[in-house]
Amino acid sequence: MKKFHLIMLLFLLIGFFSSTAAKNDDAKVSDNCITCHKEKSPGIYKQWEISKHAENDVTCIDCHAAESGDKDGFDHEGALVATLVTPKDCGGCHSQEADEVNRSYHATAGKILESKDAYLAYVGGGTPAVIAGCESCHGSKMLIDENSPNKLSSKTWPNSGIGRINPDGSLGSCTACHTRHAFKKSQARQPEACSKCHLGPDHPQKEIYEESKHGNAYYTNKDEMNLKSESWVVGVDYFEAPTCATCHMSATPNQKLTHDVGDRISWTLRPPVSKYKDNHEQKRKNMEDVCAACHTKRFMEGHFVQFDALVRLYNEKFAKPATAIMKIVNDKKLKHNKANFANDIDWIYWELWHHEGRRARHGAAMMGPDYTWWHGIYDVIQNFYFEFIPAAKEFNDTDVNAAIDKLMNDDPMHQWFLTKTTAELKAAINNGEMAKIYAELFDKK
Ligand code: HEC
Ligand code: HEC
Ligand code: HEC
Ligand code: HEC
Ligand code: HEC
Ligand code: HEC
Ligand code: HEC
Ligand code: HEC
Repeated sequence: MKKFHLIMLLFLLIGFFSSTAAKNDDAKVSDNCITCHKEKSPGIYKQWEISKHAENDVTCIDCHAAESGDKDGFDHEGALVATLVTPKDCGGCHSQEADEVNRSYHATAGKILESKDAYLAYVGGGTPAVIAGCESCHGSKMLIDENSPNKLSSKTWPNSGIGRINPDGSLGSCTACHTRHAFKKSQARQPEACSKCHLGPDHPQKEIYEESKHGNAYYTNKDEMNLKSESWVVGVDYFEAPTCATCHMSATPNQKLTHDVGDRISWTLRPPVSKYKDNHEQKRKNMEDVCAACHTKRFMEGHFVQFDALVRLYNEKFAKPATAIMKIVNDKKLKHNKANFANDIDWIYWELWHHEGRRARHGAAMMGPDYTWWHGIYDVIQNFYFEFIPAAKEFNDTDVNAAIDKLMNDDPMHQWFLTKTTAELKAAINNGEMAKIYAELFDKK
């Protein structure tokens, strides 16, 4: 054999042995994690053992490995490990999901610290309430413990908020919906995956879903809904009822699964006055495509005509006038106490849009009539005429009073209150005049 060939062979052999050695090291590290944690944390081990990850040889270290320089990486049993497994880490293998999560509105949920309700939580409540309350849903800015370098601070960990601000700069946490360590798709398809956060007096999506025909059909037929199937296309793999995931995320015969929960939303129903989102017509079409698996065009379009009209009713009759009156009060500095939320009227106006007005809008969006009316518009009416207007009148300010007088005397939607008798109003209902006042709210805009 020529000398050249001998050298080549030598290199090849060295290469072969060193790479198997490295592989053995990796395998040893990952075996160690499993062997020790099987004993130390049997629950975590068992959750992982039944997962698709275990089935595909994705082990502890594949998710928990840290890079040198990571703020939250620490030496642990011969490996550099981080407790947090962020969207960036999962994105190493699931890049499309990570990109969609990153552009979604969910990813912005940790940036609430400047918002009005954060102010209320800080001054009215206090930091512990912000951390254990707001940030457990929205996500904290994750801090490192000052006394125990590279370990997470107990002031912000545990936290699985939907817009968590991670030390590696990524936003959110996949575990918010994918409960660890099984990470089952079947779990995320169910309404419970969303309802830790989407419930309560200011955004009762869980309650609305449960009282709707859709929730009713889901809880009745859950076992037949093929939740564990690999593929889960509405109308193909299941047909009994839609879940939150069905309408907002999951695949249809024409659309792929999306991790951007805004892809099918055309209004934003959160602010005092609702607005259409950018590109809202396409987003409405995306949503209608979901309904089309189980309903006819005329049926579902009817739903959206009614929903849109309710949003406009709330906007035009209550939200815009109340907001305009509040603006005069604020601009002219009429309030007795200087700080926001230190006055009655701040709370009254806040509950009008943030609680009552949202409940009405959410109820109409997702087929919950009890929320649209009894927990929604009914409360809005009572608040508007019997709390908000009287509170505004108490300032005895000419501009505020002029705005109220104009509204109550000239606006046909409000004239009933001061200018008409019951008999006149009943006649207007019966002869169709009352309906005419509201007719244009049904026109598409
Ligand atoms: C010889 C046993 C042993 C081995 C090997 C081991 N761990 Fe641990 N690990 C522990 C113990 C004990 C704890 C602390 C448990 C507690 O506080 O309840 C821990 C804690 C952790 C934590 C949480 C740390 C924190 O403070 O938040 C993570 C994440 C972790 N281990 C991952 C791993 C990974 C990944 C591997 C493999 C590289 C591994 N462990 C190897 C025993 C081990
Ligand atoms: C698919 C990725 C993935 C795999 C595989 C994985 N983990 Fe985790 N683990 C996570 C996520 C996500 C969290 C939550 C951290 C966060 O919120 O960012 C977590 C949290 C933890 C914690 C701290 C939480 C607690 O409840 O105390 C420990 C300890 C841990 N994992 C150990 C392990 C061990 C041991 C294995 C292997 C048997 C393992 N993990 C495999 C993703 C993974
Ligand atoms: C090292 C690569 C790797 C990492 C890192 C990883 N995964 Fe996976 N994941 C896989 C593989 C492989 C599968 C199985 C094949 C598939 O379904 O794509 C899988 C499947 C899944 C599934 C589908 C499970 C089912 O029931 O079918 C979910 C959900 C999931 N991963 C979430 C996560 C999350 C969340 C993280 C981060 C906490 C993560 N993965 C990190 C490789 C990875
Ligand atoms: C850990 C809490 C949490 C979980 C779990 C959660 N969400 Fe959210 N969601 C939020 C928060 C907070 C916002 C508001 C985001 C903001 O303020 O930036 C939001 C906003 C939304 C929006 C409005 C998006 C837009 O573009 O206007 C939709 C739709 C939504 N979530 C659907 C879902 C669905 C469906 C699930 C379950 C599959 C879910 N969410 C799970 C907290 C959560
Ligand atoms: C139970 C979980 C949860 C808690 C606790 C919570 N939120 Fe939210 N928050 C949500 C969800 C879900 C939404 C989105 C609702 C929707 O889109 O209809 C939201 C919406 C918001 C919005 C509106 C964002 C926008 O862009 O319009 C702000 C601001 C906000 N929350 C701040 C806070 C603050 C501050 C606190 C604490 C005082 C808090 N939240 C407590 C779940 C929660
Ligand atoms: C708002 C809740 C929510 C969040 C947050 C979330 N997921 Fe999902 N994810 C789901 C739902 C719901 C499904 C199942 C949809 C279906 O099968 O119809 C799913 C499915 C998946 C799947 C299986 C995809 C397939 O084609 O079978 C993977 C992988 C996955 N998610 C990864 C991630 C990763 C990585 C993150 C974080 C970057 C993440 N998810 C964050 C709700 C969520
Ligand atoms: C039958 C389909 C359907 C189901 C099921 C459904 N939604 Fe919705 N959701 C909608 C529609 C339609 C809208 C309004 C879309 C628009 O703006 O045009 C909406 C709006 C929303 C919004 C935006 C609210 C805002 O303030 O802007 C959130 C958040 C939301 N849904 C969460 C959920 C959650 C959580 C569940 C399950 C508990 C759920 N949805 C179940 C169809 C559905
Ligand atoms: C997986 C099938 C499925 C999907 C997808 C679906 N629905 Fe339904 N829907 C049903 C079933 C089942 C009922 C109950 C029918 C009955 O009353 O017997 C129902 C009932 C309704 C009702 C009547 C509510 C009532 O109280 O009488 C409306 C309105 C409605 N759906 C609108 C929608 C809209 C809008 C969408 C899309 C955003 C949608 N649905 C998506 C299955 C579905």
